[in-house]
Amino acid sequence: MNVLAIETSCDETAAAVVADGRDVRSTVVWSQLADHQRYGGVVPELAARAHLTAIGPVVRDALSGADAEWDDIGAVAVTNRPGLSGALLVGVNAAKGIALARNLPLVGVHHIEGHIAANWLIDELQDYGEIAMPAVCLIVSGGHTDLIRMSAPGEYELLGTTLDDAAGEAFDKGARLLGLGYPGGPAIQHAAETGDPAAIPFPRAWLNDSFDFSFSGLKTALLRLVEPYRVEPVDTPEPVREPYAAHVPPTFRSDMPVADLAAGFQEAIVDVLVGKTMAAARACNARTVILAGGVAANARLRAAMETAVAEHDHSPRLISPRLTYCTDNAAMIGAAAHWAIQRGDIAGFDLDVFARESLTRKG
Ligand code: KG4
Ligand code: ZN
Repeated sequence: MNVLAIETSCDETAAAVVADGRDVRSTVVWSQLADHQRYGGVVPELAARAHLTAIGPVVRDALSGADAEWDDIGAVAVTNRPGLSGALLVGVNAAKGIALARNLPLVGVHHIEGHIAANWLIDELQDYGEIAMPAVCLIVSGGHTDLIRMSAPGEYELLGTTLDDAAGEAFDKGARLLGLGYPGGPAIQHAAETGDPAAIPFPRAWLNDSFDFSFSGLKTALLRLVEPYRVEPVDTPEPVREPYAAHVPPTFRSDMPVADLAAGFQEAIVDVLVGKTMAAARACNARTVILAGGVAANARLRAAMETAVAEHDHSPRLISPRLTYCTDNAAMIGAAAHWAIQRGDIAGFDLDVFARESLTRKG
């Protein structure tokens, strides 16, 4: 069955047609990056308005990209939790309109379940076949850092979560402190390529070997390290009268070791993510280690995770989504919707949005 999936939880307007939860017939992602970049982060009101403009064309593109007519679609799925409320509402209302007009079942999807389900997608470049359970999933995105034990699709137990910033948020804030722009993850990865990760020591929060995370100390350490290199900008920009203050990037002396700072900062995040994921895999006797979320696109994280899995006593299989399915997209929502449909989890027209909701409760 073809599912038309819609994702508008943050700053990507996305739609996709996915067959049987696995086969991506089309995927369209309209990034609002240009709208938010000058503010140094996502402005929720702008995101909601940009989704409104983009949603119609994006859905039409997804249908035509799949060579599909409305009659070829068997259900409509949409992210309804968690995310920016105004942004989620646009996708949910579009999905309700389509479901009503076409008399289609409506499915509400949890964004994090979507990120996990991205690993089940197949296309000409990737097919993991059967994925053995139990699995330990590391979900690392702009809003989440969760370690989850998965015993089957739909069955999740939260092992640990972040006590402060999410891993992607740490990358974004770190890049902001270094004056590297938004989004921070790709910017730090790029700057770190020529750096020495061991040149400058950064703290790692192991938190008594629990499965929880904390990245705020790392951010403070970076702030202290860049402060001595800070200089006043030569041209102070004129204040602009506009509803949202534009972000003015900091300026630094030219001898600041940007590459070493970026490499050391990235390594500290990656070390803790890999260390705790491997400890969880051991504790759960995991047969598979699953990476998911925007930070799963990080090249250093993927490489370090591969090495750690190869050295692990039980050698679980490591799987991670294709780069295009790590960051927000609607194909992953189509994959998770398939599981929801199999569970009989069909929504009514009272489907609501929730800014915060965990996939599991802790414990
Ligand atoms: O999953 P995602 O697209 O959106 C959320 O659900 O939050 O994740 C976005 C996050 C951003 O914080 C971004 O900086 C980070 O993923 N990210 C990366 C990389 N690409 C995206 N972080 C590290 N390295 C990357 N290559
Ligand atoms: Zn996401």
